[in-house]
Order: sequence, then structure tokens, then C-alpha cells
Amino acid sequence: MNFLEKAKAIESFIIEGRHYLHSHAELPYEEQETTAFLVSELEKMGIPVITFSDYTGCIAVIEGGRPGKTLLLRADIDALPIEEKSGVDFASIHPGVMHACGHDCHAAMLLGAARLLWECRSELCGTVKLLFQAAEEAFLGSHYYVDRGYLDGVDAAMGMHTWPSLAQGRIAVKDGPLMASCDNFVLTVKGVSAHGSTPNEGKDAIVAASAIICSLQTVVSREVSPIEPLVVTVGKIRSGTQFNIVSDTAVMEGTVRTYRRENRDLAEDSIRRIAARTAEALGCTIELEYNRIEPPVCNNDLALNETARRAARQVFGEEGLAKVPPATGSEDFSYIMEKIPSSLFVFLGTGDEENGCSCPAHNEKFKVNDSALTAGAAFYAQFAEAYLGSREEGEEK
Ligand code: NI
Repeated sequence: MNFLEKAKAIESFIIEGRHYLHSHAELPYEEQETTAFLVSELEKMGIPVITFSDYTGCIAVIEGGRPGKTLLLRADIDALPIEEKSGVDFASIHPGVMHACGHDCHAAMLLGAARLLWECRSELCGTVKLLFQAAEEAFLGSHYYVDRGYLDGVDAAMGMHTWPSLAQGRIAVKDGPLMASCDNFVLTVKGVSAHGSTPNEGKDAIVAASAIICSLQTVVSREVSPIEPLVVTVGKIRSGTQFNIVSDTAVMEGTVRTYRRENRDLAEDSIRRIAARTAEALGCTIELEYNRIEPPVCNNDLALNETARRAARQVFGEEGLAKVPPATGSEDFSYIMEKIPSSLFVFLGTGDEENGCSCPAHNEKFKVNDSALTAGAAFYAQFAEAYLGSREEGEEK
């Protein structure tokens, strides 16, 4: 089956959906109108939909005509607190809220894919779950569905993001690290206060904090492999009340970024060990609050990546397959990837300088051509068929 022609036939359905979603942009956790629209469109087609009384987003479930594996396709649906200046005639009607990260496109493309897959469901082997996910921009939006078991039994997952630095008509299916993790930490050093003229009677938290910050530089320079990117930054420090008092508390806040799950563990362990021992040497103690916000996005299942490239060739042609460097941003699809190891995330090219579509995401002038969407919808469906197999292939086995 080639889904590109089928997607072209429903282009107006996809674009009308996109325009509605774009103009009704809603902030994370507040996607009520968005969810209502998606549920209504899916139900109009007769597709079963799971909704949540205490959460936004929804999951459409398409069971194929033959048994098989279960695949999750994911689109995020939330917008950003930005006053839109894109100039499009379907701009947001909600003041100060704008789809400036392309999530309107993701949702519209997945809605299109739902229609394409529903129409050919009798030929599909297995089940496709289509997750319209809330609150990606809040870092934790995907947790709800994972933690409550809605993704249990899913064998593989795929997510997609519009990518303005890649030309429209191209797609990137990258092996290995794709997007960075994002963690933060609060490190509190506890000492003993004293008069500034008799520091020997106290334990100086500022001196200990200074030593800890310098020692933390060795996490990157001496703990991690030199060929692995890792960032450890202390971006905030607070301590002391007056020039002549030895401070008994120093609080530091920082962030850690990396592309590999193993290095995330390494960074946390190293920070804890170095900070604790350095503090101890200076007569102080520490408390470390380490918050794992988003894991890295790593396309580790090489066979699944190859399946995606096969589907991508069918939709975009051989010349449409692009190579991209890893991105430094983060993405909460990574939490789904931790739950479902056989998963991948792809970048859909939407760059088109001539038409003003090369502006980076999270910008008030961010724009995506409507004409980029049919191929994206087709790819969601094509990948589902490539992964699950259709009736003819099923019978051959
Ligand atoms: Ni985004």
C-alpha cells in the first residue's frame, strides 16, 4: 500500500483540522477544545476513542482485521504562551497562546493517519493506538498515560516533530542519540555559622560550595568518556547574610544534559559523590535533590529505524531521507521511549525559506506550510503498515 496518494485525497480534511487546531491553541493541561475537536472527529469516523475525565488528550484505537503486534503513534497537542505574529489567516483566537512548535500540525497529521488506517483496517495485522498527547511543553505531559497503564502491551512506538531547519519534503530517521535529556538539581551545603573574624569556630558553607563547584567540573572532564557529550552547569548560588558572618548554608541549582541514559546515571552518581566528599573534607554536609525531568531521545532499535526508513522511502523517495545532527532540545516522548524500548522519534522537514517557514520553533513568527502535512500523515500510516504488516504479507508468513 502507498499512503501518499491516499493522504493527498484527504488533504483538505487534514488542512481543515490543522486550521481549527492552530486557531484554538491551548496551553499545556488546558487542551479542552482541542481534545473535544479531536474526539469528535475520530468518533464521526466511527473510531473507538479512550478519553480521560481528569486529563486532556485522547487515545484512538484501531484494531486490524488480523491479530498481530500493537503499535503506538504519538502526536502532541499543546501550544505555548506566545502572542502570535506568524501572519497566517488562521492565527490563534486565544490571546497570548500560539502553536509555535508545530503541535497543531502533529495532531492534524495523526488525525489524517487515523482516517487512512481506519479505512484499510481490515487489511492490517495488529492494533494501532494513536495517542494525542497533552502538555508536552510542560515536560511531563506523557507521564499520565504511561503511569496509568494506557500504554501497557504496546510493542513499539513512533513520534514525529516538524523540523524547520530541515527542508520540506525531507525526513530524518536517525540512529542513536537524537535529543538531549534535561535534568536539574538543588544542592544544599550545610556548615556552621560563626563570626567572620573567627572562622575557625565555624564550618564555612561558602568555602565548601566554592570547592564543590570547582570539583564538579571533573564530572565532564574526568568521569565521562571524552567522546560523549555531557553538560553539568551550576547556574544559581545563594548564600550568606552579611560580610562579617561565616555562612552556614549555601544552595546551588544546576542542570545536566546528555544524550545517553547511562551518562545520566553517571552524572547523578558523580555529582552526589564529589559534592558529599568535598563537603565532608571541609567539615560540611550536603543534601542533593536531583530531578530527572526528561530522558534523552535515543533511537536505539536499529531494526525499527530501518523499518521507518523503508516507509520513508515510500513516501518521500530515496532523496527525501535526510541526515541531521543531534538536537540539544529535549522532548517528553523520551518518557514513552523508556517504557517502550522499541521506539523511535523522527524529524519531519518543514523548512521553506521562500514562504517564511524557516523560523525556529518557540518563536512568534513560527510557520509551517499546509502543504507539508499530507506527507507527514502518510508517513504515520505508512510506518504503521510497515511495522505491523498488512494482510497479504501476513498470509505469506
Ligand atoms: Ni514541540
